Order: sequence, then structure tokens, then C-alpha cells
Amino acid sequence: MSSRKRRILTTSALPYANGSIHLGHLLEHIQTDIWVRFQRLRGHTCFSVCADDAHGTPVMLKAQELGITPEEMVAQTRQEHHQDLLDFYVNYDNYYVTHSPENKALCELIYKRLDENGYISKRSINQLFDPEKQMFLPDRFVKGTCPKCGAEDQNGDSCDVCGATYSPTELKNPKSVVSGAEPIMKESEHYFFDLPQFESMLKEWINTGAIQKEMANKFNEWFEQGLQQWDISRDAPYFGFEIPGAPNKFFYVWVDAPVGYMASFKNYCDANGLDHELYWQTGNDTELYHFIGKDISYFHCLFWPAMLEGAGFRKPTKVNIHGFVTVNGAKMSKSRGTFIKARTYLQHLNPEYLRYYYASKLNDSVTDIDLNLPDLAQKVNADLVGKVVNIASRCAGFITKKFDGKLSNNIEDKALIKQFQEAEDDIAWYFESRQYNKAIRDIMALADKANQYIDAAAPWVTIKDESKQQYTHDVCSMGIHLFRILMIYLTPVLPKLSEQAQAFLNDEFSWDAAKDLKLGHEINKFKAMMSRVEIDKIDAMIEASKENLKETKSQVANVASDKGQLAEDPISDTISFEDFAKVDLRVVKIVNAEAVEKADKLIRLELDLGGETRQVFAGIKSAYDPSTLIGKHTVMVANLAPRKMRFGVSEGMVLAAGPGGSDLYILNPDDGAQPGMRVK
Ligand code: 2FM
Ligand code: ZN
Repeated sequence: MSSRKRRILTTSALPYANGSIHLGHLLEHIQTDIWVRFQRLRGHTCFSVCADDAHGTPVMLKAQELGITPEEMVAQTRQEHHQDLLDFYVNYDNYYVTHSPENKALCELIYKRLDENGYISKRSINQLFDPEKQMFLPDRFVKGTCPKCGAEDQNGDSCDVCGATYSPTELKNPKSVVSGAEPIMKESEHYFFDLPQFESMLKEWINTGAIQKEMANKFNEWFEQGLQQWDISRDAPYFGFEIPGAPNKFFYVWVDAPVGYMASFKNYCDANGLDHELYWQTGNDTELYHFIGKDISYFHCLFWPAMLEGAGFRKPTKVNIHGFVTVNGAKMSKSRGTFIKARTYLQHLNPEYLRYYYASKLNDSVTDIDLNLPDLAQKVNADLVGKVVNIASRCAGFITKKFDGKLSNNIEDKALIKQFQEAEDDIAWYFESRQYNKAIRDIMALADKANQYIDAAAPWVTIKDESKQQYTHDVCSMGIHLFRILMIYLTPVLPKLSEQAQAFLNDEFSWDAAKDLKLGHEINKFKAMMSRVEIDKIDAMIEASKENLKETKSQVANVASDKGQLAEDPISDTISFEDFAKVDLRVVKIVNAEAVEKADKLIRLELDLGGETRQVFAGIKSAYDPSTLIGKHTVMVANLAPRKMRFGVSEGMVLAAGPGGSDLYILNPDDGAQPGMRVK
């Protein structure tokens, strides 16, 4: 790798200001932080900025519910988010907010340039409007009856039961989630950004290394469908920036959010006398990297580079895209207690456990990452406590007690030291290319070698032999040298442990310091550096994360905050016994289950009803991997009239409980219940 000093700016996606930071967010913040720390340790100039994403309808409505202004709510949330991140040792140079004067000025500048360059147009569109609340309703704020299958209480954009997608204007009996009123259609003028004009530029940019190949392939499919004009305005009331020259029209939150990267850095540069433009003008050798999740790649890989280009700014060097987090093999779930907030985690576990675990799994692809908590405990205990820290604790006591706290002037095994030092090149490349899993694999292989060396030399035996004092001193010093090199390599991942190691070693690390050896160097007394992960603490964290259905707040809060909130579910009106007796409930065995392609939520089930096989489409894909269902017993409504659906005929319904999303549980009768048995 070249030794040229690089000038780099990095960003992580801006968390919305209406919910807490959770372990899903932390994957990205930790990924960015490791990369930034690595660059700095190598001696490069690397800035990192983030901010709270303050604008939009959900933030506005949540603040109204809390009876405070959006500005007050955002100020509180920003502080909470920032503290959560700091406590995970995620240190941005600036953690700002998009509702800022810098962001307003930059949005206006970019918009003005786009307008002058002919990329903005206006036209009227029809949208659902809440006549009571006097506001236009985003898709997620309308509910009603599915136009395809008739299922009630479906979202404005898709049906959980049949998987259909549609526009909210097609819903039957639509209701505003905000007021319950029936929305009306209303026309209003919207502003559009002419994305199609950037098609050839975007194709070239995307296919020449700005994003991972697997994502570029996905974008090429989207290009084939053609790019559309992008609606960038929202009508008042809206929490955001007013569009210059367009009273009561506001920039859509996704316009000002990425500009928020620029604005956060501007705020930092102004406070520190740095040159902001250097990182945003075209034609510089500065580098710009955005770290994001795959769900927001459309915004970062199409709209954002097009906006930058259209306004005469440089485009990102790379957009680094990662996958989602699952916990214990499933989507994060509030009722299972796996929707774990940053603060809840911190109340139970050491943040470096998570940093290490994520690093051991993170790679440069967009595949999802599973946070398996028992595996986390096993890995941290075996690798960090059992291998790395153990090297120091096995050797340090002898150095302090027997050798005056000084390392020897000899190198007992030069070849081994050389092996440790030569591993540097690969490990550095793995960090640079975000293949942290491979960096950790190599570092732990070295840790194994260090322990094998100490096992074989057995200083606790030789120390008793007067004639072997020098040898023992050399061996223990070797252990400390090896520990030091490992800790240099682990510094980007484990900054706190590294700080403790530096205090113990009386040293200050840089990446290149691994090439030097501290012969004759005085070290400090060893103190315990990391304790084992206790399973009880993990259990307590899960317990503390379990949310009760009854604690759920209002409907608006459910829509407004991130996915996964639970809806209130009151008990229905009573029915007669005769009505109940009409329902024929049967035990069935799931003999086959497969995801229905083109339907986000449906699984096609084949159910054995005790001799007869039925096909049923169930809206449970968000909660189950189909293969895990095969062989299970469950309960179905056997006398429901067959319904023709888009993908085939559904001959009944299976029973499931839960509010939806990943929180859905099929009923599962006790062993002994056989297919065909009637449920009474
Ligand atoms: O998806 C989200 O959570 C957004 N708040 C991310 C914004 S990133 C950037 F564009 F500001
Ligand atoms: Zn439907």
C-alpha cells in the first residue's frame, strides 16, 4: 500500500430523530468507526461526520403527540443518540443535526443551482388529504381495505394478507392514521427533480467501482426499467426547510438529509478553521465515503450523486453498502426481546463485546449479519479473554515481580516476531477493504501461535530454575511483544482495550509501530483488562428489551417510529356460541412451505388435514423462513370458503398471533395432536 497521506471524509447514515439507536444502527456506526480509526492509525487525515435526521412527517407528528415542538424533540433525541454512540466508542468529529442553518443554506444553494441548470420542474398531482388534520398523508399514514383481497386494516401501499402492492388511492374505506377521518383527494403542485437526465452519468459511475458489484447489478436492473422524475416537495404542514420562492412548499426530507452530511462537516470546518470546499469541489484528490444500509441505496446511489453532479459538486468516491442485522437468526422483535436498544445493551454488557463480534462478521458484501448472542459470548470469551488478554496476563507478572518491570534486550524467537510483523500487510488490506472478518481471522490465528509459543516454553516452570532466568525473561518478553503487536492490529476494533494495553505497555500505538520492538522497555503492572461475557447478563438484557403489548403508545407513534412497533389490539365485540360453532378448526401438518415470489409477505403452505391436502397462502413471510415450518403442526380454519388470490386458490387459513412483521407466531399444538383432529 502506498505511503501517501490521504485526505478522507466519511459519513454514516443519519439516524431519524424519532426513535432510539438500536443494535441494527450500531452495525453501521461500528463499521464506519473501525474504518476511520484504522485510517487515522495509519497516519491519514480522516474526518467522520454524522447527524440526526430531523425532518419529515413522522418527526413532526411525534413531537405534536408529546406536546413539544419538533425542535425541542430533535434537540433531546440528538443528545441521546450522540451519547449512545460515544458510549460505544463511536467518535464522530461532529454529530450534528439536519435542522441547522448550514444545512438550510446548502440546500438552498444546491436547489438554486439545480433549478438554474434546468433540472427542476413543477406539476400538479392528486393525493390523499386528511380534511380534519388539514394535511396530505404519506402512504404509511393511510389504512383501509385491500382493493385486491378485501382484507381490512391494511397499509396504504401493500397488503399483509395477499401481498398486493397498490397506491393508497386504490384502498377501499381509507382512513387517516392521524385523525381517523376519511381522506379526500386533493390536488397540489409539486416540484420534481429530473433524474432521467443523469442516467448515463449514473450508469457509468455505478459500474466503475463506486459501489459493490452485487449492488451495481441490481441497479442495472433498475436502469432497464427507466428512471423517473423525483418528487422533491411536500406541502405544509411539514417539518423541514421551505423551498425558496415556493411558500408553503418544503423540501422532502430525503433532499436535505444527504445534504446534512455536507452541513455537518461545514459546521465542523467552520469551528476548526478547516477548508470545507476541499472535500466537496470537483477535481481534488480528497476522498469521500458514505457508509449505508442496503435499504437506502437508491437515495445514495441515484438521487444524491445526481444532485451533486447537477449542482457542480464532486460525487462520492464510494458508497459502502452493508446488509441488515438479524438477532438469533430472526428479524429483531420487540416481543421476543431482540429489538435491543443501544442504552439497554450498555446497561448490561461491555460495548467492546459488540464491536468485536460485529467486526468478526463484517465483510464487504451486502449479506445480512446475524447477531447470535450465545455465539457472541463464546467468541469474546474464547478469543479476547481466553487468547489475546491471556497472553499478557501469563507473562506480565513475571516481568514485574522478577525482572524489575523491564522487557529483556533479547528476542528469543526472531522468526515468530517476523511472522507477526509480516502479517501486517494482509491485515491492513482487510481493514481497508472492509473485510474485517478476515482481519480478525488472521489476528486470532496469530494469537493462537503466541499462546502455543508460551505453552511450549512454559515460563512458570523455567522460572523455578536459577540457570534459566535469562531464558524466562526472554520468553515472557516475547509474550509481551506479541501481545503488543496483536493489540496494535486490534486498535481500530477495540479502542478501549487498546488504551488499557497502551497504559500497561507504557506506549503509544501507531500502525507502523508494529515494526518496532520495545527492547529493554519498562512496562507497568498488569491489571485485568476484560471480563468474560456472562450469559445471565445477556438474558437480563433480552428480558429488559421485551415490550408489552399494553404499553404501546398511539397509532401515530406506531407508524411514526421505526418498523416493528406494536399496534393496539382491543378485544372484539362478543359473538354467539352458534356463530363460534360454525368455525371448523383443525390440526394440520405443514408438509411443504415455500416463499411466494413477487409477494413480499406470503408463504404457500401445503397442509395435511389427515388424508386430504390443502393449499393455503399465509401472510407470515416476515416472521418465518419457510423451510423452518416444514414438519410443524398448526391449526387451520378448514371450512373457510376458498378464495382466489393472485398466486392461486387459498383453501382455508392458518391461525397466527401477533401484531405483524416479525412478531407473528403460528399456533403450534402440543405433541399428540394429529392432523385432522378438530380443535374444540
Ligand atoms: O433511513 C434512515 O434512517 C435515514 N434517516 C437515513 C438518512 S441518511 C442521509 F441521507 F442523510
Ligand atoms: Zn389483500
